[in-house]
Amino acid sequence: MLAIARTVYAEEWAGNASAYQEQGLYGMLAEHLAQAGDVRALLDVGCGRGHGLAALRSAFPAAAHLIGVDENPECLEAAASLLAIKAPRSNIRRGRDEIVTGGRYVSTYRGTVQIGSNGITLIQSDVVVQDPEVERVLDTLGPLDALTLWFSGVHKARSATEIVRHFKIKSDAEHRTLIENRALAIAGERLRPGGALHLVVRACAIDIDQVAHAMRLDYSDWLEDKPFRVESIGSIPYEEPADGIVVRSTDSGVSAMPNYAISILIRREG
Ligand SMILES: C[S@@+](CC[C@H](N)C(=O)[O-])C[C@H]1O[C@@H](n2cnc3c(N)ncnc32)[C@H](O)[C@@H]1O
Repeated sequence: MLAIARTVYAEEWAGNASAYQEQGLYGMLAEHLAQAGDVRALLDVGCGRGHGLAALRSAFPAAAHLIGVDENPECLEAAASLLAIKAPRSNIRRGRDEIVTGGRYVSTYRGTVQIGSNGITLIQSDVVVQDPEVERVLDTLGPLDALTLWFSGVHKARSATEIVRHFKIKSDAEHRTLIENRALAIAGERLRPGGALHLVVRACAIDIDQVAHAMRLDYSDWLEDKPFRVESIGSIPYEEPADGIVVRSTDSGVSAMPNYAISILIRREG
């Protein structure tokens, strides 16, 4: 079931990612991150089919290490193809899924990861699951300049995983919050002082200034008491494709398609 859900998700996300790419969205997001300074080592959480990494590679040609982590091996296969890099099977098919009591799935990740010689390393892992090998890779690289989490999302069978029971997750929105919290924790451990955590979320907005202002307040609250501050928020209008994964915004009780990508640049304080 997990394998099918991952395959379907990877195929459907191709519709979104291609449409975003055609509209220049990924390039504009990479430009926003470049305002935070040069990037030599970066972790892309939930790298999907690699469109974000491709834009980041263009924006930061001197980057020594771009690491893409995703729990979906079908997305990682597509990413390797898009980026025209070799990704060893031992890197992108590290997961083992088992059914445990109660009929839920537990995924574990094993095997040594090879760091890519061409500057990009793709790794199958789940950022919510302990993975000492990913920790080892990040230890080897040293402090990161940036951590990106662009367009968080999960496949349909995620609700059948032990993670959902463990964290008492009731909706996709709660799942996205869990992944954002995890990204912030990794940023706390791995970003150098002055480094950037870059989140991109979708929003449905009529008054975009009002929505961006509300988001600044929400994310500033989220970062309270932490060594991070919201540096800038950008909003990029775009159109969702007809053939991709539909993410409807239910803000204000109105169910509507997102029409803005909100780019939130967060700085790690020194
Ligand atoms: C909506 S897609 C976005 C992909 C990419 N960032 C982009 O902008 O094109 C979200 C990706 O995050 C991955 N993902 C979701 N939860 C994850 C987790 N806990 N650990 C690693 N990857 C995850 C999914 O498999 C999916 O490929």
